[in-house]
Amino acid sequence: MEDEGLATRGGLLASKLKEVLLTASSREEGMRRAVEAIRDSNPLYHWAGIYLLEGDELVLAHEVGKPTPHRRISLDKGICGAAAREGRTIIVDDVNADPRYLACSLETRSEIVVPMVSHGRTLGEIDIDSDRPAAFDSSDGAALEEASLVISEFIEQSAWSVPGLGAAVARRRSPGREA
Ligand code: SME
Repeated sequence: MEDEGLATRGGLLASKLKEVLLTASSREEGMRRAVEAIRDSNPLYHWAGIYLLEGDELVLAHEVGKPTPHRRISLDKGICGAAAREGRTIIVDDVNADPRYLACSLETRSEIVVPMVSHGRTLGEIDIDSDRPAAFDSSDGAALEEASLVISEFIEQSAWSVPGLGAAVARRRSPGREA
């Protein structure tokens, strides 16, 4: 039963993302729509953002919530840097107890960072903060990892196809295949 619940939750967010990304006309619009859909998927997600990897820096593509001062994060800094370097999801129950933490808002108590990886290459990451301690568990990790696959596919597409982006994504999907 619990597994079914987890699968449904991840599936719902992934479906929502596919829907909103399909008609995005630019990478910027796609990042904005994706961040909004992620933030809206859970009332405990108080700040959500997507960072894209440029060289050895994570660059904020879009955020929803109180603006963060950390618009560019070096890979050797922060929880964000650690997740990208290690290529794995990091959940921090109490950000103030983690020496890696780069403070964004004083209200933030917990954080999850999920890398977006495609063909072994890290493209960036999804970062979410909550004002509630220990707001994230493995079900958030599973749902957001599924979401990260959808966003990664969009980013790969948008790298070489900007006009008609949605159509290009649609063409790549064969009928009946729920990617
Ligand atoms: N807390 C992050 C920095 C980004 S802000 O949360 C938006 C970190 O420690 O890397």
